[in-house]
Amino acid sequence: MKPVYVLNGPNLNMLGLREPAIYGAATLADIEARCRAHAEGLGLSITFRQSNIEGELVSWIQEAREKACGIALNAGAYTHTSIALHDALKAAELPAVELHLSNVHQREDFRHHSFIAPAVNGVICGFGPESYVLAISALHSLLTANKKA
Ligand code: DQA
Repeated sequence: MKPVYVLNGPNLNMLGLREPAIYGAATLADIEARCRAHAEGLGLSITFRQSNIEGELVSWIQEAREKACGIALNAGAYTHTSIALHDALKAAELPAVELHLSNVHQREDFRHHSFIAPAVNGVICGFGPESYVLAISALHSLLTANKKA
């Protein structure tokens, strides 16, 4: 079975230091460890990456088309700006979930629009690091449903 790609966008390498009142105390390494343990329990493996560069995220989504079975993406602020990530997700033709630590709908208006959402199966936001766990579970359900179909 190919891995699930768990991809993280700009400033998520700053978790733990960055606005802890919004994003909490967990570091990205803590979240990665939690994702690995959860995925393992579901019989999945993960490839976990972070980049501050939009084009690198686009390249990883392109790579996922061949090398992954699904994508969980926290695109950070690129969620609200990036048509390139939207197009890459469409081209990947894989089960995909958009996720956010914070509830973006409780925050500034500019966070209410997502260019990613129309290109994925669903969106999870507002559960802190648990959003990653829920996204991996959602992908597992989608992959299991695909096998039955
Ligand atoms: C975020 C929400 C985005 O609006 C923000 O730009 C981020 C993090 C989240 O996980 O809550 O960088 O994606």
